[in-house]
Amino acid sequence: MEKISLGEYDIFVGDIWKSLNGLLIEFNYSKIVVLIDENSRHHCLSTLLSNTDIENLKLIEIPSGEIHKSIDTCNFIWEQMINKQLDRNALVINLGGGVIGDMGGFCASTFKRGVDFIQIPTTLLSQVDSSIGGKLGIDFGDVKNSIGLFKNPKAVFIYPDFLKTLPIAEVRSGFAEMIKHGLIADREIWEELKTVEDFEKVNWTSLIVPSLKIKKQIVEADPFEKNVRKKLNFGHTIGHAIESLALKSEKPLLHGEAVAAGMICEAWLSVKKNNLPKTTLNKIAEFILKTYDKVSLKEATFSDLIDLMKNDKKNEGAAINFTLLSQPGEASINHTCDEEMIAESLKYYIHV
Ligand SMILES: NC(=O)c1ccc[n+]([C@@H]2O[C@H](COP(=O)([O-])OP(=O)(O)OC[C@H]3O[C@@H](n4cnc5c(N)ncnc54)[C@H](O)[C@@H]3O)[C@@H](O)[C@H]2O)c1
Ligand SMILES: [Zn+2]
Repeated sequence: MEKISLGEYDIFVGDIWKSLNGLLIEFNYSKIVVLIDENSRHHCLSTLLSNTDIENLKLIEIPSGEIHKSIDTCNFIWEQMINKQLDRNALVINLGGGVIGDMGGFCASTFKRGVDFIQIPTTLLSQVDSSIGGKLGIDFGDVKNSIGLFKNPKAVFIYPDFLKTLPIAEVRSGFAEMIKHGLIADREIWEELKTVEDFEKVNWTSLIVPSLKIKKQIVEADPFEKNVRKKLNFGHTIGHAIESLALKSEKPLLHGEAVAAGMICEAWLSVKKNNLPKTTLNKIAEFILKTYDKVSLKEATFSDLIDLMKNDKKNEGAAINFTLLSQPGEASINHTCDEEMIAESLKYYIHV
């Protein structure tokens, strides 16, 4: 078991159960409620229950999926918290992927001005990315994550064995964030990830720990995304636009699938604007296209994509903001690119 400290809380990775039980005894919570969806109930709940000694545990179950990361589901969760008579000394355990973690943390932090919560992420994306860094929230209207707050959990417990039941497409989606972490901050991790061919054979613990250490270092340096935390946006300016457009189509994409395409386009921009060697761009494109199906982009949609980028909350003012690479393991923030150049990068993706 590995313990990584991030400011006021610890992240445990591996055989987490002793530490989890220790925390539950130490804080002597008045009530413990576990937030789940149907998949984390089916695949993860019995492991949690058989490895912990929680008396009188309550469950709140919500339907899975991003579409339910909404104020309506929050209403349901808060209602359940009241029905189950949670007081301010209660604990919420978020057992599930990023949707459960973001929304469960949001509901806990706002209920009675805030009750403690812990994250037990059960998807690769939530284990390497969303469960750490303190961002909580829900989608509102058409805008993802537009209502929320920064608040740290009491602790994060990462049990990589939960990934055994995760559909391979979801594994691949989370893997994109690991590629991003390597590309922006650690060349060795990027080199190691490039050797991954078969997700079934990966020793996840050995890859998750260095990946989340990168996120930890970045959020520790800049918890409220004033500067260096923007490095984590690599691949996401174009990736989010591709994801949003695909959501409205017949072929929606998982977040990581769109980000993988976005990383190729933004690596192309990095060659133009930040001296990334062309050979590195070729290697990034080659590996990503070996791992991910090519997203079908049409030139006719470029202006819609660029409009979506303009509306992105990452921008300040009118310019479209990018994090760009200078070499594998090194990125810099606050680059702006004009629309013509962005369109060129999308064309590169189509033809590569
Ligand atoms: N807070 C942050 O900093 C941050 C960062 C990145 C992403 N996010 C958010 O994370 C969310 C995406 O997270 P996600 O990819 O985990 O999606 P998700 O929570 O929707 O989980 C994906 C699917 O896997 C299922 N599942 C979960 N664990 C499983 C398991 N062990 N076995 C089988 N199925 C399982 C879920 O029920 C769901 O159907 C988005 O809402 C995104 O905005 C937040
Ligand atoms: Zn992401």
